[in-house]
Amino acid sequence: MGTEYILEMENITKEFPGVKALDNIQLKIKKGSVHGLMGENGAGKSTLMKIIFGIYTPDKGTIKFKGKELKISGPKEAVNRGISMIHQELSPVPYMTVAENIFLGREYSFGKTGWVNDKKMVEEARKLFETLNMDIDPTAKMKDLSIANMQMVEIATAVSYNADLIIMDEPTSAITEKEVEQLFGIIRSLQAKGVSIIYISHKMDEIFKICDELTVFRDGQYIGTKGAHELDQDTLIQMMVGREIKQVFHKEEADIREVALSVQNLSRKGKFHNVSFEVRKGEILGIAGLMGSGRTEVIESIFGIDPPDSGEVYIHGKKVKIKSPKDAIKHKVALLTEDRKLTGAFLPISIRENMIISSIDQFLTFGYLNKKLVDKTCKEQVKKLNIKTPHIDQLIMNLSGGNQQKVLLARWLLNDPDILILDEPTRGVDVGAKSEIHKLMSKLAQEGKAIIMISSELPEVLGMSDRVVVMHEGQKKGELNREEADQEKILEVAYS
Ligand SMILES: Nc1ncnc2c1ncn2[C@@H]1O[C@H](COP(=O)(O)OP(=O)(O)OP(=O)(O)O)[C@@H](O)[C@H]1O
Ligand SMILES: [Mg+2]
Repeated sequence: MGTEYILEMENITKEFPGVKALDNIQLKIKKGSVHGLMGENGAGKSTLMKIIFGIYTPDKGTIKFKGKELKISGPKEAVNRGISMIHQELSPVPYMTVAENIFLGREYSFGKTGWVNDKKMVEEARKLFETLNMDIDPTAKMKDLSIANMQMVEIATAVSYNADLIIMDEPTSAITEKEVEQLFGIIRSLQAKGVSIIYISHKMDEIFKICDELTVFRDGQYIGTKGAHELDQDTLIQMMVGREIKQVFHKEEADIREVALSVQNLSRKGKFHNVSFEVRKGEILGIAGLMGSGRTEVIESIFGIDPPDSGEVYIHGKKVKIKSPKDAIKHKVALLTEDRKLTGAFLPISIRENMIISSIDQFLTFGYLNKKLVDKTCKEQVKKLNIKTPHIDQLIMNLSGGNQQKVLLARWLLNDPDILILDEPTRGVDVGAKSEIHKLMSKLAQEGKAIIMISSELPEVLGMSDRVVVMHEGQKKGELNREEADQEKILEVAYS
């Protein structure tokens, strides 16, 4: 008792082979406060959170929770002590229901029989969603949910433990503004009950909206803690990156030429209906829409992941049938998906393998892999995209979230596509890297590539797109050009 802090961490150090992820850092969280943890990709934020949650043990340092020393051996114990966590990487059990996922490891059973009481679990899940104002079916299979809804389930689960401290590691990376507002409502009511929150996000506007205090890490080092009202965006960014960066969109003029991809009346039952649009060489086409608008489904259809039921796709004026991602790649179409799991970010393979996997032909000399060329190319990409890693043999699953995203982007760039489809390209990526990716998009457009970008951040859509297609509930509601598009117009069109 007596302390104003719920969590006090001091002199924490954690090393991985070749990486000092945390170097003698500190973090103090006041009771009932929302504390933002900031830093570039690879700064050590998730590592520290995993230490609090018992996933990693620190090499050195002390942790006090509610005034007492915290030494725990795993997440289960963390939960018992009153800590819960929304993980940066979603890890749903796909073939189980939503309710089963929520109560995993703490299932309701019939007395001591050990038989799981499914009905009770579904009922409790339904109640939970009701109190949180979420419209999700507890009996649905997890695999049938959109990534955004999976994220909402993850949020609900973390809240359901009635914890005193909730860690939120990028809780909004897959949801759109409406749900972010909903989450903020939940956070404020938790806060009113005295719950403390650690909040990690690369979205600056969120940070200033919801956080009371901010702590900044840089390269595993503690930089400082300040009240959110004492800081402005530029000063915060300066603390994070150690130099000045303005948050601007690097949209360059490009020559917009002939149509590269055209889709006509594309439909897939229950997902989207009669969607038509085109994108030209040199053009960046933004697709905006709320959660469940069918944006991702449409581009996954084009890419052959779930081919459409009807409608036509034309590439460079020729009608094509794309039945699988392989077909798409053959037609020089590339897709960076919002789900890193689908693209192998979690397989135990190296950065090197991951980067060249879709463009292996370029690296063959007389049928043999030209290792020197592979090395040189991969190192170039690491440098260009500023990927934080000790070497290119590092397993991609050991990289921080934002750095994984960069490796996947590099993979598609090496593939040299004509048509590049980017689904949330800067999801989880820090300010510096974000502007690098934007610059790169502009450059690719100037080289004559056709780019389709889906983004849940409206400022990004507005900042980067030549034209914006607005989708809502599986339909294309309209199109706005760069000059006429603004936040209100997009919403107006979506709801028209
Ligand atoms: N299991 C691991 N094995 C090896 N290195 C790791 C492991 N986990 C993290 N690292 C390294 O530790 C450093 C810190 O990573 P961490 O995930 O904590 O960053 P972060 O601040 O959460 O970044 P992001 O904003 O991208 O999520 C990175 O260089 C990362 O590659
Ligand atoms: Mg992280």
